[in-house]
Amino acid sequence: MTRAASLFHRLASALLLLSLSLSVSTAQAAGRERLSLDAGWLFHAGDVKTPPIKGHGASYHQAKAGGAAGAASPEFDDSGWRRLDLPHDWAIENPLDRNENASQGYRARGFGWYRRYLQLPESDRGRHIELQFDGIATHSTVWVNGIAVNRNFSGYNGRAIDITPYVRYGEDVNNIAVRVDAEVQEGWWYEGAGIYRHTWLVKRDALHIVTDGLHANPVQRKGRWLLPVEVEVQNTGEALRDAVVELLVTGPDGAAVAQGSTRVRVAALDNATARLELAVPAPKLWSPQSPDLYQVKAVLRHAGSGPVREIDATSLKTGFRTLRFDADKGFFLNGEALKLQGVCIHQDHAGVGVAVPTAIWEFRLRRLKEMGVNAVRFAHNAVAPEVMDLTDRLGLLVMSENRNFNASPDTLAQLEWLVRRDRNRPSVILWSLFNEEPLQGSAQGREIARRMVAVVKKLDPTRPVTGGMHDGIFSERNASQVMDVVGINYQVGGYDRYHREHPKRAVTSTEDTAAYMTRGAWQSDHKAQVLGSYDDEPSSWGQTHREGWRQIAERPFIAGTFVWSGFDYHGEPTPFEWPSASAFFGAIDLCGFPKAAFYIRQAHWVKDRTVIKVLPHWNWAGSEGKPVKVMVASNAPRVRLLLNGQAVGEREVDRYDMVSFDVPFAPGKLEAVALDGARELGRDVVQTSGEPARLVLTPDRQALAGDGRDALPVTVSAVDAQGLPVPTANLPVKFEVSGAGSLIGVGNGDPNSHESSKAPERALFNGLAQVILQSRREGKGPLTLRASAPGMQPAELVLDVQATAQVPAVAAAEAVNRVSGWRISPPQAERPDPNQVLAETDMNSWGWGEAPIKQPAEANAWRAYRASMRLRADRNDGHGRLVFGEITGQAEVWVDGTKIGEKTSPAAAPLSLPLAAGAGWRTLTVLVRAEPNQPSGLTGRVWMEASPR
Ligand code: GAL
Repeated sequence: MTRAASLFHRLASALLLLSLSLSVSTAQAAGRERLSLDAGWLFHAGDVKTPPIKGHGASYHQAKAGGAAGAASPEFDDSGWRRLDLPHDWAIENPLDRNENASQGYRARGFGWYRRYLQLPESDRGRHIELQFDGIATHSTVWVNGIAVNRNFSGYNGRAIDITPYVRYGEDVNNIAVRVDAEVQEGWWYEGAGIYRHTWLVKRDALHIVTDGLHANPVQRKGRWLLPVEVEVQNTGEALRDAVVELLVTGPDGAAVAQGSTRVRVAALDNATARLELAVPAPKLWSPQSPDLYQVKAVLRHAGSGPVREIDATSLKTGFRTLRFDADKGFFLNGEALKLQGVCIHQDHAGVGVAVPTAIWEFRLRRLKEMGVNAVRFAHNAVAPEVMDLTDRLGLLVMSENRNFNASPDTLAQLEWLVRRDRNRPSVILWSLFNEEPLQGSAQGREIARRMVAVVKKLDPTRPVTGGMHDGIFSERNASQVMDVVGINYQVGGYDRYHREHPKRAVTSTEDTAAYMTRGAWQSDHKAQVLGSYDDEPSSWGQTHREGWRQIAERPFIAGTFVWSGFDYHGEPTPFEWPSASAFFGAIDLCGFPKAAFYIRQAHWVKDRTVIKVLPHWNWAGSEGKPVKVMVASNAPRVRLLLNGQAVGEREVDRYDMVSFDVPFAPGKLEAVALDGARELGRDVVQTSGEPARLVLTPDRQALAGDGRDALPVTVSAVDAQGLPVPTANLPVKFEVSGAGSLIGVGNGDPNSHESSKAPERALFNGLAQVILQSRREGKGPLTLRASAPGMQPAELVLDVQATAQVPAVAAAEAVNRVSGWRISPPQAERPDPNQVLAETDMNSWGWGEAPIKQPAEANAWRAYRASMRLRADRNDGHGRLVFGEITGQAEVWVDGTKIGEKTSPAAAPLSLPLAAGAGWRTLTVLVRAEPNQPSGLTGRVWMEASPR
C-alpha cells in the first residue's frame, strides 16, 4: 500500500468508527423499535367453547382468513374478562388440589385465553411488524385479527411471528388472541400455565436483520482471536435492495476494538447473509471470575443514492474463551482445568411460579454463586433470554438443554431456535439434547440423536453436545456414541467401567446426588413428611451431597457435577405425595433460603475464603443435657467447637464428610472456630433465643427501579426480646403493601404448605418467610410493606422506588366493537328493499368487503350494505351507539327490519345513532344513494360504542 493509500485507509476506518459510534446513541430513533406488549391483556381462565358451526353461511365464513370463530375472532365479546399484565402464570394462582397431578405440584392447569388490542400508526405502513412471545406454557395458538398466525407445541421456546400482512393501521384497532392449552405436559415438574414470559412487538424496516440473525461467536485459530460474524438480512418489501452491513466491536470498557463492513443484496421476500471475519487482538478472556463481555453491533445502512441512512441495527454481547473436554482430565476453560461445580435447576420460584421477574432470577443466580456454583444446567428446557443474559454477565457456565427428544421437523425447529438464540453466549459450554430418554440406549435413540446433533453442528460447530443418559451408555448402539461428551445421570457405579472401556470419550455427570432435606428441619419425620438436614437422606438412586461430591471430585476424568437440584421447585414432591406439593431435593429452598446442603457445598467448592457454618440452630428447650448432633461445614483443615465459651471438641475436617460432634444441649452460645494449625480463620455462632417478640423485614436491596418490572425478595423473620433470631418460629404473618408497587407472591419454603402463593399472608416456616415486591410502572416514591402477627411487635419496611426510564411499550387499545363482514349489493337504479332476503347459501350475487368501502362513480345510484352485528356486554345498556366514521351519499340505516336513522345530506359525513339494548345478533342494512357521477359508500369504519355518560 502506498503511503497515501494507507493514510486514506486509516482515515476511512476512523470515519466508519465515528459514524458507528454516533449511531449507537441514535439506534432507537432509526429503523428498529422493540416495544413491550406485556401490559393490558384480557384473560379468561378455562377454554371458551365455540358454539358448533352449522349452516352454510357460518361454515363458509369460518373457513376464511380472518374468519376465526369464538374467542379467536376480533369481534368476540371479551368485556367480562380479567385485565392483567404479563408475564402471567395462572397455575400458581390456583389452590392446591389433591385431585390434580403431584408432578405438576397439585395445581390445576387446564386451558386459558388471552386477548389484547393495539393500534399501529399510519407511519408503520411498509415496515416489518413482528410479534414475539418468549414463552407460553404449553401448547398455544395465536390469532391476529382472526387469522391463525402461529401454532406452537412447547412451553419453552420463543417465537417471532411476522404479522405484517394481517395488521391494520391508523385509527383501526388490531386484536391478538391466544389460546393456551396447559392440559398437555412436557415435563414431570411444575410447568406453570399461560403467557409466562415477556411479549414484544418489534418494528423494523422491510429490509432488516432477522430475529437472532446476528451471529458472532469468537474462535481462536493458531493463537489468534477471530470473530466470524454472520448477519442474516431479510427483505419483506416489494423490490430488491442493496445495503451495507457495518460492524463494530467494543470491549468491556466500551472502547472500539474492531470494525468492518460489507455489502448485502436481498431480493424481495428473500433472505441473504452477510459474512465477515474480524480480528480482535488480545481480548480480555471471559471466565466465571471475570465475565468480561464484548458488544458486537451490526448496522444496516442504505446503499446507493441518497443519504447514508441507518435502516436497522442490532447488537449482542459475546465473550472470548476457549473450552475443551478432555477424556482423562475433564473440562478446561481458557486452557486451565476447571471442575464443573454445577447444579440442575427448574425455572420456578415461590409466590410467582414460572413468571419469575428477571431481578428474582438474578437473586437466585447470585445465591448459587455464593454457594460456590460455577455451572448451571437448566433442567430440562430452555429458559427466558434474560436469564441467559445473566449467566453471561455473572459468569456461570451453562449446560443449555433442549426439551423434546425427537427428530421431527417441529421439534428440530425448537432445537434450532435454541441454538440460534444462545450460540453467541460465552456462558454456554454444552448443548444437551435430552434428559433420560428411554430410547437413549437403542438404535432409534442413536438415530434421533444423530439428527439432532447435525442440527446443532450446522449452527454451532464450536460447542460440544451431550445428553443426560441414565442408562444405555454400555449398549451396543446408543445415543452417547454420536455426542461429544457422554453425560451420565446417576449410575455412579458405572463411572470407572465406562472410562475403562471408553478411555477416549469425555465424560461429565449431567445429574447426581438427589438427596432430600427440609430447610430448617433437623429430625426426619417420615409420617409428617419432613426430612432432616444432616445430609443423611439420599434417594435410593442418588447419594448424599457429601458422597456425591466425593465420587466426582476424586475422578479427574469426570468433568464435573450437576447436582439434583440447586433449588427446590414446585411439583415432584418425591419421596412423598400429598400433602407435600413441592420438591425436597434443593440445596436451597423454593424461596432461595439456604438449606444445610448449601453450606456443605460451599465448604466443598469455595476456595477463596473461609467457609464455616455451625448446624443446626441452638433452640432445643426441653432437651437439656441430651446430646444434639452438631455438624460443622467448613473448608478449614480443623474446627473447634465451644459451648458458652467452653471447648466441647476439636477435630480435623474431612473435606467431603465435614465434621460432626454430639453436644449435650445447654442453652447459650454454640460457636465453631475454623482453624489452620493454631491460626483462627473464622467463626460462626448460633445462640439460644427466647420466644418470638418482634417481626423483622429484611429486603434483598433497599431500592427498586420504578419500571413495573424490577422486583425483590424480602425475608420475613422473627426475633426475641433481645433481638436474637428465632429459627423455630412458625407464626402466621399478615402483610399490607402501599405506595409505588405491589406484592406479587409469598412463600416460606415448606414443601407441605398449602397456603396461597398470592394472598398477603404467610406463616413463617422454621423461622422464615418471603414476600416478593414489584415496583409499579412509572413508579416513584416509597413502597411500604407492613407485617403483623398476633402478639408480636409488627414490622415496617419502606423501600425507595426510583423513577427510571420505562421499557418502551405499545399501549393497550380499548376493545373495538367493530361491524364487519359486509355484504354489498350490486348497484341498482331503484331504491333496494332494506328487508330483501339474501339466501344464506348465496355467496356470489352480493359482493364482500370491510369498511371503509368506497364505490367509484357508477351509473346506478343505489346499493345496499348488510352486516351482522352484536353489542358487547359493556356497551349493551341502551346507551350504546352505532357509529359510521363516514358515509358518502344519502343513507338509510335499518336494524332488524326497523329504520333507526338516516343521513339526508349526500356529502361525506359521519353518522352516529342510538342503539336499543338487546343481546344476540342483529341484521344491519344500510342503503346508500350516490350523487350522480360521484363516489359513494361506507367510506369510514363502522363500530358500536358506549356513549359517554
Ligand atoms: C432425574 C430427573 C430429574 C428429577 C430427578 C429426581 O431422574 O432427570 O428431572 O426427576 O431425577 O431425582
